Amino acid sequence: MLLSVRDLTVRFRTHDGTVHAVNGVSFDLEEGETLGLVGESGSGKSVTNLAVMRLLPQPAGHIERGTVLFEELDLTNAPEASMRDLRGREIAMIFQDPMTSLNPVLTIEEQMVETIQAHRRVTAADARVRAIQLLGMVGIAEPASRLRNYPHQFSGGMRQRVMIAIALALEPKLLIADEPTTALDVTIQAQVLELLQRLTAERGTAVILITHDLGVVAGMTGRINVMYAGYIVEAATTPELFAKPRHPYTVGLLHSIPRLDAGSDEALIPIEGVPPDLRLAPVGCPFAPRCAWRTVQCWTENPALNPVEPGGSVRTTGPEATHRIACWNPPTADEATAGAPLRPGFEPAPPPAGSPQATGPYVLPVAPGNAEVRSEEGAESAMPGSHGFPESPGSGSGR
Ligand SMILES: Nc1ncnc2c1ncn2[C@@H]1O[C@H](COP(=O)(O)OP(=O)(O)OP(=O)(O)O)[C@@H](O)[C@H]1O
Ligand code: SF4
Ligand SMILES: [Mg+2]
Repeated sequence: MLLSVRDLTVRFRTHDGTVHAVNGVSFDLEEGETLGLVGESGSGKSVTNLAVMRLLPQPAGHIERGTVLFEELDLTNAPEASMRDLRGREIAMIFQDPMTSLNPVLTIEEQMVETIQAHRRVTAADARVRAIQLLGMVGIAEPASRLRNYPHQFSGGMRQRVMIAIALALEPKLLIADEPTTALDVTIQAQVLELLQRLTAERGTAVILITHDLGVVAGMTGRINVMYAGYIVEAATTPELFAKPRHPYTVGLLHSIPRLDAGSDEALIPIEGVPPDLRLAPVGCPFAPRCAWRTVQCWTENPALNPVEPGGSVRTTGPEATHRIACWNPPTADEATAGAPLRPGFEPAPPPAGSPQATGPYVLPVAPGNAEVRSEEGAESAMPGSHGFPESPGSGSGR
């Protein structure tokens, strides 16, 4: 196993209290696998991966519990010197905004040569040759002369290509790409993603791809973890997740994206309400205030991530990975298609009297089958940037 994360729990100490950013997340990754991490803003995608890299914002962020085994080495307590050696060489990360990770006062050459020489015993001249090769590989024309440029002399798309070149320079075993194309316009996004996919597939690099965009993960990943409020709420292979989503939040996500094959009059169903305030310790299922399937139990007991089909052994990786959800009352296949409970007389359970959920700034979800009902507060869908266009959900190629 390349990466094995168990019970990862991350907190931020702030003036306003403790932020429960990541709440006992566990997942595995084999060599060469591609894993998508999706979920709306603030669900803990970046923090999970910053914790894996031990790059949590300091001093507020800390790993409270859990283990992160990278090839058997526990990164949660490895010496800082080992972590420095590992970052870049074994695990590379492409950050959301390339401008924040490229140094504006150094040329591309200085940054690439420095990265290569920090981890490989090569002369500056050889590192420069490698840098030229890499820039050429990511499609930068006249790479030898472009090496002398500063980051601001590149367009956004080219900077992102440079970031990919730097990330792949050392042929890491794991690449974590955090929203690698959000800053780019749509036409360039597709090119950069195609490039990322081709280069990592050629080298057998394992990839964790973080995105809001289900269209992107559909085409680029073999498996998907859906995150909500610092929890993994659904884990499945990509084709299974698109064909048979079983968690109400995933069902909501899939209903909130435009589909090319949908009729023009088919309404999108936004996910009502807002995510919970992570400064409050979680009580019950974190999705309950927004869930049309919730029962009384959901308000007080938080479900664990368990196989959809009980029994048998659980596989956490590969194309046969077990489909798992954290849900007490999952939608049936028909309900998932409809996007609402279809059981006659079913009403989502109201919050228990006197509970914070009953009095807090929560938005109760729509009544079953009545998607137009909007609440006064937070009526906008809290799902940002759902601009994915998966041509045919279920066509996720994976690797
Ligand atoms: N430096 C910090 N101090 C306090 N809280 C933080 C800090 N960084 C992140 N958080 C909190 O941790 C939670 C998870 O944040 P994270 O950045 O992982 O979300 P995300 O899923 O990556 O969202 P996005 O899609 O917007 O990038 C959020 O509630 C966020 O406010
Ligand atoms: S049915 Fe219950 S457990 Fe499942 S997502 Fe809804 S609130 Fe959570
Ligand atoms: Mg993020």
